[in-house]
Amino acid sequence: MSESATTAVGSDIERALSTLDAGHVQKTYWEQDEFICLERWLPASLVARMVEEVERVRPRIHRNYIPRHKKGGSVSYYALREQAPTILALYRAPAFIAFLSSLTGRALQPCPETDPHSCALYFYTDPGDHIGFHFDTSYYRGARYTVLVGLIERSSSRLVCQLYRKDPRGRPLVELQLATHPGTLVAFNGDKLWHAITPLGENEERVSLTLEYVTEPSMHPAKRFFSNLKDAFAYFGLRAVFRGAAPTR
Ligand SMILES: [Fe+2]
Repeated sequence: MSESATTAVGSDIERALSTLDAGHVQKTYWEQDEFICLERWLPASLVARMVEEVERVRPRIHRNYIPRHKKGGSVSYYALREQAPTILALYRAPAFIAFLSSLTGRALQPCPETDPHSCALYFYTDPGDHIGFHFDTSYYRGARYTVLVGLIERSSSRLVCQLYRKDPRGRPLVELQLATHPGTLVAFNGDKLWHAITPLGENEERVSLTLEYVTEPSMHPAKRFFSNLKDAFAYFGLRAVFRGAAPTR
């Protein structure tokens, strides 16, 4: 990983953290059943460097279409690992992971190197691109947490989140419709938040970064195979998933 990217991201994260009332953010996260949205939180300079990397990997977008569920483009961790040092540095930044661990109350860590979804870009570029309602279900032995970062937002698409869908306390369902502007960060427990992205309009574009963290990085081999198949067909393509995970890379 690039040392200069790591240093620059480290100071960007420290600066962003200094603007937060950590106690208030943590309280809100728990009040919202493990969901938080920090509007335009990451520094513009960091977002600009990540957007440069978005443009660099654009030729590697893999488009996919699953009728009635999702349509859009993705770039996997394996491509980002080769061409996106700032994004990788953010994913692995110790101060960032410490913040997320304190927020969730769990010792989080990045996913293993064999997970194409661990850190990935989603491109909504064609009219109708969207993803239907789903949980970010964990196939790992432990819990999985999702962090979304808005990078390009020139669209009428919205991240729709339903809070308290599985709430044991029976709180009434709350639906939020969010624009993920550049620098906006959303974090949630993947097994709890029911969420979707509404269809893109004509001449619009939306690009977001997804970062996945886990409490226990091991996975039963059968679940790994199923997870890879899902990633191959729904996101990154067979070649990217199965060649990218090969130990020679
Ligand atoms: Fe999701």
